[in-house]
Amino acid sequence: MSENPPRCETDVRCNGRLQDLKRQFEKKFGESPHFYAHAPGRVNLIGEHVDYCGYSVLPMAVQRSILAAVSVSSSGTIELTNTNPQYKDFTVPCLEEITIDRDNPEWYYYFLCGVKGVQENFGISPLAGMRCVLDGTIPPSSGLSSSSALVCCAGLVTMEANQKSLSKVALAEICAKCERYIGTEGGGMDQSISFLAEEGTAKLIDFDPLCATDVKLPDGAVFVISNCCVEMNKAASSHFNIRVVECRIATKVLAKSKGLDWNRLAKLAQVQTELKASLEEMLALVDEALHPEPYNREEICRVLGVTAEQLCTDLLSANTQHVTHFKLYQRARHVYGEAGRVLRFKAVCDSEPSEAMQLLGDLMNQSHASCRDLYECSCPELDQLVDTCLEAGAVGSRLTGAGWGGCAVSMVPSEKVESFLRAVREAYYTHDSRRAAMEEQSLFVSKPGGGAAIFLEK
Ligand code: GLA
Repeated sequence: MSENPPRCETDVRCNGRLQDLKRQFEKKFGESPHFYAHAPGRVNLIGEHVDYCGYSVLPMAVQRSILAAVSVSSSGTIELTNTNPQYKDFTVPCLEEITIDRDNPEWYYYFLCGVKGVQENFGISPLAGMRCVLDGTIPPSSGLSSSSALVCCAGLVTMEANQKSLSKVALAEICAKCERYIGTEGGGMDQSISFLAEEGTAKLIDFDPLCATDVKLPDGAVFVISNCCVEMNKAASSHFNIRVVECRIATKVLAKSKGLDWNRLAKLAQVQTELKASLEEMLALVDEALHPEPYNREEICRVLGVTAEQLCTDLLSANTQHVTHFKLYQRARHVYGEAGRVLRFKAVCDSEPSEAMQLLGDLMNQSHASCRDLYECSCPELDQLVDTCLEAGAVGSRLTGAGWGGCAVSMVPSEKVESFLRAVREAYYTHDSRRAAMEEQSLFVSKPGGGAAIFLEK
């Protein structure tokens, strides 16, 4: 794991794109960019909705990213432009306090999250003025983390423009924290892999402390991403935070059932640590201490001995105040089960048994079933797409990212990739005009890409 700030000379992968962006920058601002930064999106291979519970995840960066061209200016403003005309220009004075409007998740607020995170970390005031043109190739609202890549890119750009230096780990932690200004209580997976990714390898990401370990995927396994074309913007809905809250309450109820100091514990992994139990024992505890029927507010207050007001202020978040029922049993079962699958996936990759592909595929399929049935973060189109991918020759297929729409990731034997792509195209995209129009962006092979970096022009 590198402790150095991410910095390198011009990256060949970005070269054509970089030249186009440079031209656009010069046209817009009448000067040349001083530097460039890019931050990739990611695909999570396994370990869904467990990072904010304290468990490890296993993603890889995709070869799609946010690329920024930047100049430092004396204008006293931060000027943002996007190459996609759908995203409007935005300017903010450096002397003004940066505010993020949670009710209106416009594209530039993600950028401002990254700016604010770095500003607060160093106590910079005022910020250096800068001009940025941003270009994104990660399909938005698709579960590939386009928003976190924008936050990470902004964090890097702000660090460089203000002549500061941070390690990749520190940047990942700052960006994970500051993205919460937008209102979603994500874990740190997306920002961590965006910074810590390395070309050619997936990563096991552990939290507390943050650490990334290479995971060598089996030769002959190709990962294909396919978008179900249902958009999911996690900041614009409360699905995501409801799950975070359900896990938090499940943590407290489980901890209390075992006589632990439950007030102090907020993540399901902490209960396991306190009990020094295995994940199998945690699954048994879930069966014993929680019931499958949803819990209502009164029951939670009774079990924890808290008032209705305390429930609202201490356990619910701003956009989950309306929730009346909480599926604690199902959510906790998913989390402890999924945490175990991540460890088994890593163990199979490390030991490379002859049936590695089949074992990994089975784990991916179990993960999807658990996301669909216990965590309820899939949707009918995504389930249909996953089934289509399996029928088309994938050994394993599952939703990736937050869910409720967006992408599936499938593991396909290399010799079957061409026929797989043909079959999925035919079954899922060709006959639906809206999907067909999105197909080029929606069905692609991705190798593990490199992490976020700053590029200086040669
Ligand atoms: C989003 C969050 C991540 C993670 C995934 C689900 O991408 O930002 O932190 O929780 O959902 O695994």
